[in-house]
Amino acid sequence: MLTRTDAKARSLADLPPVQSDSLLALIALCEADPRPDKIDVGVGVFRDGAGNTPILKVMKEAERRLVDTQVTKAYLGSAGDKKFAELLRPILLGEHAADDRIAGVQTPGGCGALRLGFELIATSNPQARVLVGTPTWPNHPPIIAAVGLERVDYPYYERGQGAIRFEDMRNALRDGQPGDVALLHGCCHNPTGADLDAAQWAEVTDLCRERGLIPLVDIAYQGFGRGLDEDAAGLRGILAACDEVIIAQSCDKNFSVYRDRVGSLFVKTGSSEATARAMGHVFQRAREMWSMPPDHGAAAAHIILEDPELHARWLIELAAMRDRINSVRQRIAAADPRLAFIGRQFGMFSMLPLSKDQVLKLREDHAIYMAESGRFNVVGMSDGQIDRFTAAVVEALDA
Ligand code: LMR
Repeated sequence: MLTRTDAKARSLADLPPVQSDSLLALIALCEADPRPDKIDVGVGVFRDGAGNTPILKVMKEAERRLVDTQVTKAYLGSAGDKKFAELLRPILLGEHAADDRIAGVQTPGGCGALRLGFELIATSNPQARVLVGTPTWPNHPPIIAAVGLERVDYPYYERGQGAIRFEDMRNALRDGQPGDVALLHGCCHNPTGADLDAAQWAEVTDLCRERGLIPLVDIAYQGFGRGLDEDAAGLRGILAACDEVIIAQSCDKNFSVYRDRVGSLFVKTGSSEATARAMGHVFQRAREMWSMPPDHGAAAAHIILEDPELHARWLIELAAMRDRINSVRQRIAAADPRLAFIGRQFGMFSMLPLSKDQVLKLREDHAIYMAESGRFNVVGMSDGQIDRFTAAVVEALDA
């Protein structure tokens, strides 16, 4: 029963304004700019040399087949398309694909997987703290806060030098308590592009195991760095060493189906029985939040992954996206010694050592739209825009 009080009831009109997500706000800002030569290197979508984000040819083919053959849109249940999650196993888990202590579920994109993974942690251990290397994807902190977990930040990256602050990372993980969560970027670090090397992954893995930390690996760009297997090597090392691991995976980028929201959550525990119980909680949390994930994109990815010919075509189109990312990186890196670090990094993002004022000046003077942090999407620009972009950035660095 509601209790009456004399205090003024709070209404919806009393809500304070919310600071909108900076990356999504950038899309609208850039769209509203009438300058025809504007450069949008804000939000993370792959663009080809002509500046477009085309639907992959293989995806178009799979969608055609889906439309022709799908006979029902009846509910699938909270797990979504179970076969889709199964088909992802070899791609994501590699040599661990047959491990029955690992179970997966389809989610609405990588963001849905992250939310669900943190919900699972909060359900099992609300005292767990989440160790987060900064800078990180701007949506990580709000998701962690939304499930009520405490966040402990540590510095991951030295912006001026384009280098990982591994000593700080090591110390932060050493200070972790058993049951704490180590949030790790599987590959193509967002927002810096600075990935751990093999020796660093090995050390992080040892620290997680020794300290009893639960690694939560966010892998949203598999295949955009060095290759599908290479990009998952760190994650697979963690799976070999740790009993409890959570993986938030996204197909939004590597299948180029951003708005369709295609992802998965994988959970590993020490036994198949415990994993089955944990998945019961995962399904319950999913049911409370979205009941079941959207089907279309995952159903089309399912068709691709199941058909050897389409699968092979997907790998070729994925390699073409990766090659463009890496060649644009090399071109930018060659423009000025201060940009050389960009050529040693991976994935769609790098972070320029620019102040917020410098970023805003690039926006005003050159119609270049990047995040205020200095993060830019390496393949946000067309081939024809690269020289203008680098010249403007060099000018800003000189100022
Ligand atoms: C990004 O970081 O730009 C992407 O992951 C898109 C998003 O949702 O923020």
